[in-house]
Amino acid sequence: MYIVFEGIDGAGKSTQIKLLKQWLEDNGFRVETIVEPTDSEVGKLIRQILQRPDATENNVQKTLGLLFAADRMLIMDKLNDKSKIIISDRSFISSLAYQKPTEWISILNKYAKKPDLLLLLDLDVKKSVARTSGQDTFENEEFLTQVKENYLKLVENYTHEIIDANNGKNKVSSDIKKAVAPYLGICPDCIP
Ligand code: TYD
Repeated sequence: MYIVFEGIDGAGKSTQIKLLKQWLEDNGFRVETIVEPTDSEVGKLIRQILQRPDATENNVQKTLGLLFAADRMLIMDKLNDKSKIIISDRSFISSLAYQKPTEWISILNKYAKKPDLLLLLDLDVKKSVARTSGQDTFENEEFLTQVKENYLKLVENYTHEIIDANNGKNKVSSDIKKAVAPYLGICPDCIP
């Protein structure tokens, strides 16, 4: 099973992935986690470009679209490992939410793996901006408002659950477990 976490910056994806991984392992599942952008050479280049002041500009966004797709191609085999549950912090759906033009980004990601379950951590944009460092050029209110809107439309194309990420860490974690449980044959009412 390939479970993807998506959401705007600061939504708590990495914290929640850790908590979900631990819980799934406690329930006897084998779990592998992945983070996009990765720590490959391409991923390192991406992280540098994200700090450019013009990172939201058209041609830089297109360059990022290409690089994100290339970075993703490098982990294709990992994502297809059927012996474990793969939980990913972001996917090609981030590219569709953050980069433009959509049609072109879709073509670049034609071979990207589709999630079996997409979890959207939905956070208020103002909270997102307050939580993030502002180091990356994407971490600004206007841009993230558009990204959040994009996400809410995009999720409709996949098997998904929307999680309210404005709540405290433990409540969000419990909501995620309840959302994931039915897909794995775990009793949702057994989760505190
Ligand atoms: P993020 O998960 O925020 O990493 P960190 O916790 O290190 O800041 O990802 C970095 C940024 O990259 C984030 O703003 C979202 C953006 N991004 C895209 O624009 N397109 C993509 O395809 C991916 C995977 C990420």
